[in-house]
Amino acid sequence: MQNLVVMGAGNLAHALVQGWQRIPNPRWTVWVLARSASYLEKGWRPWPAPITTDPAILREAHLVVLAVKPKDVEAACATLREQAPPDVPVLSMVAGLSLQRLRQALPESPLVRAMPNICSAVGEGITAVSFDRHRAPDPAEIRRLLETLGDVVEVDEALIDPITALSGSGPAYAYVLLEALIEAGIRLGIDPELARRLSVQTLRGAAQLAHAEPQLTPPQLIRLIASPGGTTEAALGRLEAEGVKTALCDAIFQARSQAARLGQAQQA
Ligand SMILES: NC(=O)c1ccc[n+]([C@@H]2O[C@H](COP(=O)([O-])OP(=O)(O)OC[C@H]3O[C@@H](n4cnc5c(N)ncnc54)[C@H](OP(=O)(O)O)[C@@H]3O)[C@@H](O)[C@H]2O)c1
Repeated sequence: MQNLVVMGAGNLAHALVQGWQRIPNPRWTVWVLARSASYLEKGWRPWPAPITTDPAILREAHLVVLAVKPKDVEAACATLREQAPPDVPVLSMVAGLSLQRLRQALPESPLVRAMPNICSAVGEGITAVSFDRHRAPDPAEIRRLLETLGDVVEVDEALIDPITALSGSGPAYAYVLLEALIEAGIRLGIDPELARRLSVQTLRGAAQLAHAEPQLTPPQLIRLIASPGGTTEAALGRLEAEGVKTALCDAIFQARSQAARLGQAQQA
């Protein structure tokens, strides 16, 4: 067994660890390095992997997953340089952090950049990966590790920021829709628990149908439900009038710009 140390004990780290613990992994023993005891305040007790605030854990690391906020990268890399073997492979999941910038901080490490999402916790995530051109860990091994969290796609690094905006942040957009469905259900007289059950299963089923019928475009899927003069058409007309689709597209562009800003701030 080799030691995988996740640096950061926040929302993403928790999702990754939950995802990895679902399937027994013969290759990796997962540890979590926290900076402070703040993870205790999140109500996740016990953590699904051994957790410590002692950076000496990095001395035994065979792979480090960087899961800290962009503002904390510099300090985290300084700790890595002090504690970890100089050539420890690093898998960064930090939004906006380029491989070039990470290479400056960790000159000897094999590097890979990835953008997962929170659905990794239940094995239904999707992770985009981009390997450093100069020195990278074994791609097959990294793929195997990430595949236990869901789908994996290898992309050019230039796509990681757009993917951060689309599928990294994406579950949050789905939860906005979920919130609206539940709220409307309750206002229509459905009790909250039933409204949640109906709404969650509707989103889940809609995603699964789209997944099962990849040849159908979204407008074709919509036509399976909406008939002229029907209830769905009435609802869609209102969504169109309110510009909901345009607003959602604009929001994703906004997220993309923020990823670029975070990257620039790190280079400043
Ligand atoms: N959340 C998501 O859905 C998601 C999805 C894809 C990518 N990401 C990326 O993942 C990263 C983490 O996001 P998050 O949502 O998990 O943030 P978060 O909940 O704020 O967690 C960040 C964690 O990192 C810890 N930390 C900071 N510096 C550290 C250090 N030097 N050593 C060890 N731990 C350290 C923080 O500790 P303190 O509590 O003491 O500050 C905190 O526990 C971000 O770069 C984000 O872009 C997140």
